[in-house]
Parts: sequence; C-alpha cells; structure tokens
Amino acid sequence: MKKILVTGGLGYIGSHTVVELQNEGYDVVVIDNLNNSSDQVQSRIESITGKPFELLVGDVNDTVALQSLFKKHSFDGVIHFAAYKAVGESVENPIMYYQNNVSGLISVLEVMNTFKVSNLIFSSSCTVYGAATDLPVTENTLIQKAESPYGTTKILGEEIIQDFAKHKAFKSILLRYFNPVGAHPTAHIGELPLGVPSNLIPFVTQTAAGIRAQLTVYGDDYATLDGTCIRDYIHVVDLAKAHVKALKYASEMSKSVDVFNVGTGNGTTVLEVIRAFENVNGIKLNYKIGPRRAGDVEQIWADTTKVSEVLGWKPQYGVEDMMKHAWAWQQGLTKP
Ligand code: WQD
Repeated sequence: MKKILVTGGLGYIGSHTVVELQNEGYDVVVIDNLNNSSDQVQSRIESITGKPFELLVGDVNDTVALQSLFKKHSFDGVIHFAAYKAVGESVENPIMYYQNNVSGLISVLEVMNTFKVSNLIFSSSCTVYGAATDLPVTENTLIQKAESPYGTTKILGEEIIQDFAKHKAFKSILLRYFNPVGAHPTAHIGELPLGVPSNLIPFVTQTAAGIRAQLTVYGDDYATLDGTCIRDYIHVVDLAKAHVKALKYASEMSKSVDVFNVGTGNGTTVLEVIRAFENVNGIKLNYKIGPRRAGDVEQIWADTTKVSEVLGWKPQYGVEDMMKHAWAWQQGLTKP
C-alpha cells in the first residue's frame, strides 16, 4: 500500500483528491491548518470512501510538525495543495502570500529532502501563462510576469522545484490547473465558501440560493463570441483524478520534473456557463452586465494533448455536469 502525504487535504481540490487516492487504494495522511477548510471535511471524505485517514491539524510552515509526520510515516510521495489562492487578496496582502505559499513549499521540500521522500505533485496554475495570445496554451507557452502576487507564488514555486530537483534524486510533477469548479456527485464535499466569493461558480450558486442578490458579469465587450471572457472550466473530480495519474507517472518517469496543463481543452464564456447552469438546474439566474474586472485575461484554455497522451488522463464531465453538481452541493449547504 503506497502512503501519500496530502498537504491542504481538507481544502477544495485536496479533499476531492483524497477521495480519489483512497479509491485507488492509497493510504493517505493529511496536514491542514484549517485556514480555508473545516475539520468536518474529514468525516465527509470518509463518508464517501468508507476509509479513515490520519489528520494533523497544522501548518506546512511548521517544519517541526512536518518532521513529526515524516518520522511517524514512511511516505511514498507528497501532494502539496496547502497554499492561499485568492488573487484579489494576494494583491492586498502580498507578504502573507509569499510567506505562506513560497516558504510553505520550501518547508515541505526541506523535510522531504531530510527523509529522502522523492515524489512531489505540485499544485500550479494556468495563471502562470498570464494573458497568453497564442491559444490554446501548451506547456511550452511562454510564462509571463504574473498579474498578481498569487500568480507569482506559483511561478516561483515551479522555479524552486526545478532548481531543487537539479541536485537531488527527486521527481516532481507540476500540474497547471485551469478553472476548477463543481463538487463531488455525492454532494458530501465541495467548495466551502468563506466570505463573498471572488470566483464565478460559487457566486452563481449563491445567487441562485438567494444568498447573493444578483450576479455581475464582469464585462461583455471582449473580442469573444458573446463578449464575455472565456475560461477552461474543469470538474474538480476530473482534476483530482489527474493527481492520481500524475503520482503513478512520477515514480516511473525518467525526467526529474515534468509539467502538465490540466484543463478540458474547451473554452466556455461566462454567459455560456450561466446558460448551462440555468438549463441543467431549471433556474433563471438573476444577473446583470457590469464593467470589466481589473486583471482578467480575455480568454484562455488548455491544449490537453500532453496530459492525455502521457498521463492517459481524460476529463469525463462537461460544463452541465459541473453546474449540476455545484448546485446540488450549494443546496446541501443551505438546507435549513
Ligand atoms: C472566471 C470568469 C470573470 C466572478 C481563478 C483564479 C486563478 C485560478 C483559476 C487557481 C472571469 C468572471 C467572475 C463574478 C464574473 N485558480 N466572473 N463575475 O479569475 O479565471 O481564475 O481561477 O489556480 O488563479 O484567479 O476565475 O472564477 O474568478 O473568473 O463575471 O462574480 O468569470 O471575469 O471572466 P479566474 P473566476
């Protein structure tokens, strides 16, 4: 039985990945500081898989706590999710983002090095491509200066791992996520909203639930088919499964570091997302068109040739599935 440490394993993508790891027979240990999650998620994950796992409530920056875990367990690999991910917040508080996201990664690498654990899956982001002009983006698309400190922490994270792997017997896979959305089909786990959502889908579901009065579509004057921005939305369960595929590949790949875009390869506009949500759930969504949001790129979606050919991974859910599962999760959250 392979044993994997999942940092941030009670978070949105982390929790769905723990489910898929357990489904594949992995033994999982989680460290999570509950900054952007809740310890209730542990029992919710176990309600899906029927398999318990150890949770350490702690921070990856606490190297001593990490060392205690590595002393206790012989890990075959680490999936590192623990990081802050709100673009707007990172602009307001860059030091908090560099401290948590960059120093946290360094702490994980230090302890992995001490205990000779050599497989790391790193949670990166399509944000590293910035406002790419050559679409769809491939893994060779130019990395541009990030539009936010959050994006910079992902670019720095990739660089740090590349440099670290040059001098160590170490394998790492960098997964560049596109837009993770939706929730587990059981509706037992999903995106836990903290405060006013900045991302589109939680705002859509909270508007439909009456928590938010109205959704604002940030601009409809872009050079796209309906004027609204295009993104590559990927179901969080599909994304989670890509991590399991990456883990298997990491242990056998000849390279020390490899990079994969993890998207669906399909671009969808904001208005198309709203239509899909309305159609699959039979709900009329209250929205208006507002001004553009600073920092938004007009359009980006993934070339998924590499992830499908090398990892043998293909997404199974479409946008309507994502909207159906996102709404079912929201309804469970707001059930009286
Ligand atoms: C999507 C589209 C908005 C809210 C984020 C992170 C990025 C990465 C992917 C982790 C845009 C529009 C949104 C709203 C709207 N995450 N929108 N009204 O900005 O593409 O990327 O997720 O790696 O780092 O920033 O996602 O959901 O915020 O926006 O019209 O109330 O929806 O303008 O076109 P984004 P998003």
